[in-house]
Amino acid sequence: MWNDEYEVLQYVSKSSPHLADLSPQPLRPARQPGAGIEEEPLVLLFIEGDTLDAVYPRGSALPSPLLDEIVGIFAAMAKVQEVDLPRVPSDWPSGDDSSAFIRRLATFAQRDVEPLVREKLHPLLERLGLPEHALQRFVDRIPRLKRRPFCLLHTDLHRGNLVVGPQDRVSVIDWEFAMTGDPIYDISTHMVRMGYPASQFDSVIGSWKASLDAARPGLTEGIRADLPIYLAYERAQSIYPDILRAASSLGALIEEGVFARAVARIESALQRAAAPLQLERTPDRRQIATALREWHRSRVGGS
Ligand SMILES: Nc1ncnc2c1ncn2[C@@H]1O[C@H](COP(=O)(O)OP(=O)(O)O)[C@@H](O)[C@H]1O
Ligand SMILES: [Mg+2]
Repeated sequence: MWNDEYEVLQYVSKSSPHLADLSPQPLRPARQPGAGIEEEPLVLLFIEGDTLDAVYPRGSALPSPLLDEIVGIFAAMAKVQEVDLPRVPSDWPSGDDSSAFIRRLATFAQRDVEPLVREKLHPLLERLGLPEHALQRFVDRIPRLKRRPFCLLHTDLHRGNLVVGPQDRVSVIDWEFAMTGDPIYDISTHMVRMGYPASQFDSVIGSWKASLDAARPGLTEGIRADLPIYLAYERAQSIYPDILRAASSLGALIEEGVFARAVARIESALQRAAAPLQLERTPDRRQIATALREWHRSRVGGS
Protein backbone atom coordinates (compact mmCIF):
# COMPACT_ATOMS: atom_id res chain seq x y z
CA MET A 1 0.00 0.00 0.00
CA TRP A 2 2.82 2.44 0.82
CA ASN A 3 5.53 0.79 -1.30
CA ASP A 4 8.27 2.03 1.01
CA GLU A 5 9.31 -0.40 3.73
CA TYR A 6 12.04 1.97 4.96
CA GLU A 7 9.59 4.79 5.61
CA VAL A 8 7.06 2.43 7.21
CA LEU A 9 9.72 1.11 9.59
CA GLN A 10 10.77 4.64 10.50
CA TYR A 11 7.22 5.68 11.36
CA VAL A 12 6.48 2.43 13.17
CA SER A 13 9.55 2.62 15.35
CA LYS A 14 8.92 6.30 16.10
CA SER A 15 5.36 5.67 17.25
CA SER A 16 5.89 2.43 19.17
CA PRO A 17 8.95 1.77 21.34
CA HIS A 18 7.74 -1.83 21.66
CA LEU A 19 7.67 -2.34 17.89
CA ALA A 20 10.95 -0.44 17.51
CA ASP A 21 12.53 -3.06 19.73
CA LEU A 22 11.28 -6.00 17.75
CA SER A 23 11.44 -4.93 14.13
CA PRO A 24 14.53 -4.37 12.00
CA GLN A 25 16.09 -0.96 12.36
CA PRO A 26 16.03 0.72 8.94
CA LEU A 27 19.57 1.73 7.94
CA ARG A 28 19.32 2.92 4.35
CA PRO A 29 16.35 3.39 1.99
CA ALA A 30 16.16 1.65 -1.36
CA ARG A 31 16.99 3.83 -4.37
CA GLN A 32 15.40 3.45 -7.76
CA PRO A 33 17.84 3.65 -10.67
CA GLY A 34 17.66 7.01 -12.42
CA ALA A 35 19.83 9.59 -14.14
CA GLY A 36 23.30 8.83 -12.83
CA ILE A 37 21.90 6.93 -9.85
CA GLU A 38 22.52 3.25 -9.38
CA GLU A 39 19.85 1.01 -7.94
CA GLU A 40 20.40 0.38 -4.24
CA PRO A 41 18.49 -2.11 -2.11
CA LEU A 42 16.90 -1.33 1.24
CA VAL A 43 19.31 -2.04 4.11
CA LEU A 44 18.03 -3.15 7.50
CA LEU A 45 19.77 -4.20 10.69
CA PHE A 46 20.10 -7.98 10.97
CA ILE A 47 18.03 -9.62 13.72
CA GLU A 48 19.75 -12.50 15.58
CA GLY A 49 17.79 -15.74 15.69
CA ASP A 50 15.90 -18.26 13.58
CA THR A 51 12.66 -17.76 11.77
CA LEU A 52 9.84 -19.49 13.61
CA ASP A 53 9.24 -21.99 10.80
CA ALA A 54 12.75 -23.37 11.27
CA VAL A 55 11.96 -24.24 14.89
CA TYR A 56 8.19 -24.80 14.76
CA PRO A 57 7.15 -25.73 11.21
CA ARG A 58 3.64 -25.14 9.86
CA GLY A 59 1.12 -27.36 11.67
CA SER A 60 3.07 -27.52 14.93
CA ALA A 61 1.74 -26.03 18.16
CA LEU A 62 3.54 -23.03 19.68
CA PRO A 63 4.47 -22.92 23.37
CA SER A 64 2.59 -20.26 25.31
CA PRO A 65 5.54 -17.88 25.89
CA LEU A 66 5.86 -17.53 22.10
CA LEU A 67 2.11 -17.07 21.71
CA ASP A 68 2.23 -14.33 24.33
CA GLU A 69 4.97 -12.59 22.35
CA ILE A 70 2.95 -12.79 19.14
CA VAL A 71 -0.21 -11.49 20.79
CA GLY A 72 1.88 -8.67 22.27
CA ILE A 73 2.97 -7.70 18.77
CA PHE A 74 -0.66 -7.38 17.68
CA ALA A 75 -1.48 -5.30 20.76
CA ALA A 76 1.43 -2.95 19.97
CA MET A 77 0.24 -2.57 16.37
CA ALA A 78 -3.30 -1.89 17.60
CA LYS A 79 -2.03 1.22 19.37
CA VAL A 80 -0.46 2.63 16.20
CA GLN A 81 -3.10 4.71 14.44
CA GLU A 82 -3.42 6.28 11.01
CA VAL A 83 -2.09 9.62 12.24
CA ASP A 84 1.13 7.92 13.38
CA LEU A 85 1.88 6.53 9.93
CA PRO A 86 2.82 7.76 6.46
CA ARG A 87 -0.05 9.36 4.55
CA VAL A 88 -2.27 6.76 2.88
CA PRO A 89 -3.05 6.82 -0.88
CA SER A 90 -6.08 8.99 -1.68
CA ASP A 91 -8.23 6.00 -2.64
CA TRP A 92 -7.41 4.08 0.56
CA PRO A 93 -10.34 3.64 2.99
CA SER A 94 -9.72 5.28 6.33
CA GLY A 95 -11.30 5.79 9.74
CA ASP A 96 -13.40 2.77 10.63
CA ASP A 97 -15.15 1.78 7.40
CA SER A 98 -14.50 -1.97 7.52
CA SER A 99 -16.88 -2.65 4.62
CA ALA A 100 -14.97 -0.30 2.33
CA PHE A 101 -11.72 -1.85 3.53
CA ILE A 102 -12.56 -5.47 2.68
CA ARG A 103 -13.93 -4.35 -0.68
CA ARG A 104 -10.72 -2.49 -1.43
CA LEU A 105 -8.70 -5.63 -0.65
CA ALA A 106 -10.97 -7.83 -2.72
CA THR A 107 -10.93 -5.44 -5.66
CA PHE A 108 -7.15 -5.54 -5.69
CA ALA A 109 -7.08 -9.36 -5.59
CA GLN A 110 -9.66 -9.55 -8.31
CA ARG A 111 -8.41 -6.86 -10.66
CA ASP A 112 -4.68 -7.13 -10.18
CA VAL A 113 -3.73 -10.53 -8.80
CA GLU A 114 -6.21 -12.98 -10.33
CA PRO A 115 -5.85 -12.00 -14.02
CA LEU A 116 -2.08 -11.84 -13.72
CA VAL A 117 -1.81 -15.35 -12.27
CA ARG A 118 -4.41 -16.68 -14.72
CA GLU A 119 -2.47 -15.35 -17.69
CA LYS A 120 0.93 -16.38 -16.39
CA LEU A 121 -0.17 -19.97 -15.69
CA HIS A 122 -2.64 -20.36 -18.56
CA PRO A 123 -4.39 -22.83 -18.83
CA LEU A 124 -3.56 -24.28 -15.39
CA LEU A 125 -6.27 -22.50 -13.37
CA GLU A 126 -8.97 -23.66 -15.79
CA ARG A 127 -7.60 -27.21 -15.58
CA LEU A 128 -7.77 -27.04 -11.79
CA GLY A 129 -11.43 -26.07 -11.98
CA LEU A 130 -11.04 -22.42 -10.95
CA PRO A 131 -13.51 -20.37 -13.00
CA GLU A 132 -12.59 -16.83 -13.99
CA HIS A 133 -15.19 -15.10 -11.85
CA ALA A 134 -14.84 -17.20 -8.73
CA LEU A 135 -13.57 -14.30 -6.63
CA GLN A 136 -16.22 -11.94 -7.97
CA ARG A 137 -18.91 -14.30 -6.75
CA PHE A 138 -17.36 -14.18 -3.30
CA VAL A 139 -17.14 -10.38 -3.31
CA ASP A 140 -20.78 -10.08 -4.36
CA ARG A 141 -21.80 -11.99 -1.25
CA ILE A 142 -19.82 -9.94 1.32
CA PRO A 143 -22.32 -8.50 3.81
CA ARG A 144 -21.91 -5.16 5.59
CA LEU A 145 -19.25 -5.33 8.28
CA LYS A 146 -19.25 -3.64 11.66
CA ARG A 147 -17.23 -0.43 11.85
CA ARG A 148 -13.94 -0.87 13.71
CA PRO A 149 -11.22 1.76 14.26
CA PHE A 150 -8.33 1.22 11.85
CA CYS A 151 -4.78 0.63 13.05
CA LEU A 152 -1.42 -0.56 11.77
CA LEU A 153 -1.55 -4.02 10.15
CA HIS A 154 1.40 -6.17 9.09
CA THR A 155 -0.78 -8.51 6.95
CA ASP A 156 1.87 -11.20 6.43
CA LEU A 157 2.60 -12.50 9.91
CA HIS A 158 3.46 -16.11 9.10
CA ARG A 159 6.17 -18.31 10.59
CA GLY A 160 8.75 -17.18 8.04
CA ASN A 161 8.38 -13.54 9.05
CA LEU A 162 8.71 -14.09 12.80
CA VAL A 163 12.23 -14.40 14.20
CA VAL A 164 12.81 -16.13 17.54
CA GLY A 165 15.78 -14.67 19.38
CA PRO A 166 17.38 -15.14 22.80
CA GLN A 167 14.94 -15.64 25.71
CA ASP A 168 12.23 -16.49 23.20
CA ARG A 169 11.90 -12.86 22.12
CA VAL A 170 9.89 -12.77 18.89
CA SER A 171 10.75 -10.12 16.29
CA VAL A 172 8.90 -9.23 13.11
CA ILE A 173 10.45 -8.81 9.67
CA ASP A 174 9.15 -8.17 6.16
CA TRP A 175 6.98 -5.09 6.64
CA GLU A 176 6.55 -4.53 2.91
CA PHE A 177 2.81 -5.33 2.97
CA ALA A 178 2.01 -3.25 6.06
CA MET A 179 -1.06 -1.03 5.80
CA THR A 180 -3.73 0.65 7.87
CA GLY A 181 -7.10 -1.02 8.19
CA ASP A 182 -9.45 -3.30 10.03
CA PRO A 183 -7.61 -5.23 12.78
CA ILE A 184 -9.72 -8.34 12.12
CA TYR A 185 -8.09 -8.64 8.71
CA ASP A 186 -4.63 -8.99 10.29
CA ILE A 187 -5.60 -11.77 12.69
CA SER A 188 -7.26 -13.55 9.76
CA THR A 189 -4.18 -13.46 7.55
CA HIS A 190 -2.18 -14.61 10.57
CA MET A 191 -4.49 -17.54 11.36
CA VAL A 192 -4.60 -18.77 7.76
CA ARG A 193 -0.88 -18.32 7.05
CA MET A 194 0.49 -19.70 10.33
CA GLY A 195 -1.15 -23.10 10.03
CA TYR A 196 -1.83 -23.48 13.77
CA PRO A 197 -3.02 -26.96 14.76
CA ALA A 198 -6.80 -27.11 15.25
CA SER A 199 -6.25 -27.53 19.00
CA GLN A 200 -4.69 -24.03 19.21
CA PHE A 201 -6.90 -22.12 16.79
CA ASP A 202 -9.58 -20.85 19.17
CA SER A 203 -7.24 -20.10 22.04
CA VAL A 204 -4.99 -17.92 19.85
CA ILE A 205 -8.01 -15.91 18.73
CA GLY A 206 -9.22 -15.67 22.34
CA SER A 207 -5.88 -14.29 23.57
CA TRP A 208 -5.64 -11.94 20.60
CA LYS A 209 -9.11 -10.57 21.36
CA ALA A 210 -8.42 -10.08 25.06
CA SER A 211 -5.17 -8.35 24.32
CA LEU A 212 -6.63 -6.01 21.66
CA ASP A 213 -9.57 -5.09 23.86
CA ALA A 214 -7.13 -4.10 26.58
CA ALA A 215 -5.04 -2.09 24.11
CA ARG A 216 -7.79 0.04 22.59
CA PRO A 217 -11.60 -0.15 22.80
CA GLY A 218 -13.76 -1.16 19.84
CA LEU A 219 -11.13 -3.01 17.83
CA THR A 220 -12.76 -6.43 18.09
CA GLU A 221 -16.38 -5.28 17.99
CA GLY A 222 -18.47 -7.62 15.83
CA ILE A 223 -15.75 -10.27 15.69
CA ARG A 224 -18.18 -13.18 15.88
CA ALA A 225 -19.88 -12.25 12.60
CA ASP A 226 -16.93 -10.67 10.78
CA LEU A 227 -13.97 -12.95 11.55
CA PRO A 228 -15.46 -15.82 9.48
CA ILE A 229 -15.86 -13.41 6.54
CA TYR A 230 -12.22 -12.34 6.63
CA LEU A 231 -11.05 -15.95 7.12
CA ALA A 232 -13.09 -16.97 4.09
CA TYR A 233 -11.72 -14.02 2.11
CA GLU A 234 -8.14 -14.91 2.99
CA ARG A 235 -8.66 -18.57 2.04
CA ALA A 236 -10.31 -17.50 -1.21
CA GLN A 237 -7.71 -14.96 -2.33
CA SER A 238 -4.66 -16.97 -1.29
CA ILE A 239 -5.45 -19.65 -3.85
CA TYR A 240 -3.82 -17.43 -6.52
CA PRO A 241 -0.46 -16.71 -4.87
CA ASP A 242 -0.38 -20.28 -3.53
CA ILE A 243 -0.78 -21.88 -6.96
CA LEU A 244 1.64 -19.37 -8.47
CA ARG A 245 4.31 -20.19 -5.88
CA ALA A 246 3.76 -23.93 -6.28
CA ALA A 247 4.02 -23.77 -10.08
CA SER A 248 7.03 -21.44 -9.94
CA SER A 249 8.86 -23.80 -7.59
CA LEU A 250 9.33 -26.33 -10.41
CA GLY A 251 12.62 -26.02 -12.21
CA ALA A 252 13.16 -26.80 -15.89
CA LEU A 253 13.69 -30.45 -14.95
CA ILE A 254 11.13 -31.82 -12.54
CA GLU A 255 12.56 -33.05 -9.26
CA GLU A 256 10.04 -35.48 -7.81
CA GLY A 257 10.23 -34.27 -4.20
CA VAL A 258 9.69 -30.66 -5.27
CA PHE A 259 6.88 -31.74 -7.59
CA ALA A 260 5.10 -33.70 -4.84
CA ARG A 261 5.29 -30.70 -2.50
CA ALA A 262 3.89 -28.41 -5.20
CA VAL A 263 0.96 -30.80 -5.77
CA ALA A 264 0.27 -31.04 -2.02
CA ARG A 265 0.37 -27.27 -1.71
CA ILE A 266 -2.11 -26.79 -4.55
CA GLU A 267 -4.35 -29.48 -3.11
CA SER A 268 -4.57 -27.89 0.31
CA ALA A 269 -5.03 -24.38 -1.16
CA LEU A 270 -7.93 -25.69 -3.28
CA GLN A 271 -9.48 -27.44 -0.31
CA ARG A 272 -9.28 -24.28 1.79
CA ALA A 273 -10.77 -22.15 -0.99
CA ALA A 274 -13.50 -24.58 -2.05
CA ALA A 275 -16.22 -23.36 0.33
CA PRO A 276 -15.58 -19.60 0.07
CA LEU A 277 -15.31 -19.77 -3.73
CA GLN A 278 -18.26 -22.16 -3.98
CA LEU A 279 -16.27 -24.68 -6.01
CA GLU A 280 -18.56 -27.63 -6.53
CA ARG A 281 -15.76 -30.12 -6.75
CA THR A 282 -12.01 -29.86 -6.44
CA PRO A 283 -9.58 -32.11 -8.32
CA ASP A 284 -7.89 -34.89 -6.35
CA ARG A 285 -4.15 -35.24 -5.98
CA ARG A 286 -3.78 -37.34 -9.14
CA GLN A 287 -5.73 -34.90 -11.25
CA ILE A 288 -3.72 -31.97 -9.88
CA ALA A 289 -0.48 -33.82 -10.67
CA THR A 290 -1.61 -34.48 -14.23
CA ALA A 291 -2.65 -30.86 -14.78
CA LEU A 292 0.59 -29.56 -13.30
CA ARG A 293 2.75 -31.95 -15.34
CA GLU A 294 0.98 -31.02 -18.57
CA TRP A 295 1.32 -27.34 -17.79
CA HIS A 296 5.01 -27.80 -17.02
CA ARG A 297 5.58 -29.80 -20.23
CA SER A 298 3.96 -27.06 -22.29
CA ARG A 299 6.28 -24.52 -20.67
CA VAL A 300 9.59 -26.31 -21.08
CA GLY A 301 8.80 -27.37 -24.62
CA GLY A 302 8.17 -31.08 -24.35
CA SER A 303 11.10 -32.26 -22.22
N1 LIG B 1 16.31 -7.82 9.49
C1 LIG B 1 16.51 -9.14 9.32
N2 LIG B 1 17.20 -9.83 10.21
C2 LIG B 1 17.43 -11.13 10.05
N3 LIG B 1 17.04 -11.84 8.98
C3 LIG B 1 16.33 -11.23 8.04
C4 LIG B 1 16.02 -9.84 8.15
N4 LIG B 1 15.31 -9.51 7.05
C5 LIG B 1 15.21 -10.62 6.32
N5 LIG B 1 15.80 -11.66 6.89
C6 LIG B 1 15.90 -13.03 6.34
O1 LIG B 1 15.64 -12.99 4.94
C7 LIG B 1 14.47 -13.74 4.60
C8 LIG B 1 13.61 -13.00 3.57
O2 LIG B 1 13.31 -11.71 4.04
P1 LIG B 1 11.88 -11.10 4.04
O3 LIG B 1 12.01 -9.67 4.49
O4 LIG B 1 10.94 -11.96 4.82
O5 LIG B 1 11.49 -11.07 2.51
P2 LIG B 1 10.49 -11.93 1.60
O6 LIG B 1 9.80 -12.94 2.45
O7 LIG B 1 9.57 -10.89 1.07
O8 LIG B 1 11.37 -12.54 0.57
C9 LIG B 1 13.75 -13.94 5.91
O9 LIG B 1 12.96 -15.11 5.94
C10 LIG B 1 14.89 -13.99 6.93
O10 LIG B 1 15.45 -15.28 6.97
MG1 LIG C 1 9.20 -12.99 4.35
